[in-house]
Amino acid sequence: MIPIFQPHYYKEDQRLAIQTIREGYVTNGPHILEFEKQFAALCNRKYAVTCSNGTVALYLAIKALNLPKGSEVILPSMTIVSCLTAIVENGLKPIFCDIDNETWNIDYKSVESKITKDTSAVIVVNTYGLVVDTDKTLEFKQKYPHIQIIEDASESHGAFHKEVMAGSIGDISTFSFYANKIVTTGEGGMVLTDDESIYKELLQSRNLNFIERKKYIHSAAGFNFRLTNLQCALGLGQLQNIQKTIKHRKRVAYKYNSFFSKNSNIQIPFEGKEYSNVYWYYGIVVKKNYDKVLKALEDNGIEYRHFFYPLHKQPFIDSKEVIKNSEFSFENGILLPIFNKLTTSQIRFISEVILKEVQ
Ligand SMILES: Cc1ncc(COP(=O)(O)O)c(C=O)c1O
Repeated sequence: MIPIFQPHYYKEDQRLAIQTIREGYVTNGPHILEFEKQFAALCNRKYAVTCSNGTVALYLAIKALNLPKGSEVILPSMTIVSCLTAIVENGLKPIFCDIDNETWNIDYKSVESKITKDTSAVIVVNTYGLVVDTDKTLEFKQKYPHIQIIEDASESHGAFHKEVMAGSIGDISTFSFYANKIVTTGEGGMVLTDDESIYKELLQSRNLNFIERKKYIHSAAGFNFRLTNLQCALGLGQLQNIQKTIKHRKRVAYKYNSFFSKNSNIQIPFEGKEYSNVYWYYGIVVKKNYDKVLKALEDNGIEYRHFFYPLHKQPFIDSKEVIKNSEFSFENGILLPIFNKLTTSQIRFISEVILKEVQ
């Protein structure tokens, strides 16, 4: 069986994790601030706050923006449910927009068609490792300065477009460090901002809203969303090797490309000029014999995933809206195995299994 992903732990990860346990600072300790500092530097941001996972990061980011209650937040229909959860749990209204068929990132024309007087924010997701078009994002910001941009960079550690780093594009940005991410802490998340008052708010809201720890005085009811020192030790090791991990992702992706790029029934991931796609996942859209391809993958012990199920069609939303590209991507998209140790012969095998069904 070829798994869809396999986390890769470097020697440095192990050294730092073991050292942290030996020193006894598993929960609190210096690695938290150091991981935040180094990650903020990678993303060219002033402040970073770690938290339990990427879903919580989105929740905390939206909460910190203090958007008008009941206002509308636009998000792509084809993304993880975490974006939707974060909007709803903050008492805001989700409005779904479409993605671009070529990049699978948000389509700003679709966003514009959904703007109303109640729109307060947009969640922009760097899908499967590709940063959103930074020129279009800037244009959008200039045209609608009152609309906040929340950048969900969970799938794009270290990616960039025209030297603009993932995580530096939004007014506020978030990451996940789940096991399948390019930098992992097992479970984990982070919020990044350049605004000191938002930073202070985030420090409070990830930590039970303490005002004074010793007297147990709190500004509001709050949750514990902290990440541990042990997890951040792992994160520091991972971060030291991020370029190695990205190199492997690109190696695997370009090898897949070499097999698929001549087949007009297979759409490969976008990596335009001046982009660095970090290929969190390697997605293809198969325009012929999709079900046969899935069956062939299963029969040959190759794990795969579908693209995200359209959020507007989730059972608890059940909208009758048609959001074309999002639905098309789900119906025809497949995510293929990608990880550091995936060999050229495995990539060749996976590609041949697919190509046999799509001639
Ligand atoms: C774009 C995006 N946002 C948020 C998340 C949620 O992160 P977590 O699983 O750490 O809660 C994910 C997870 O895959 C994701 O892909």
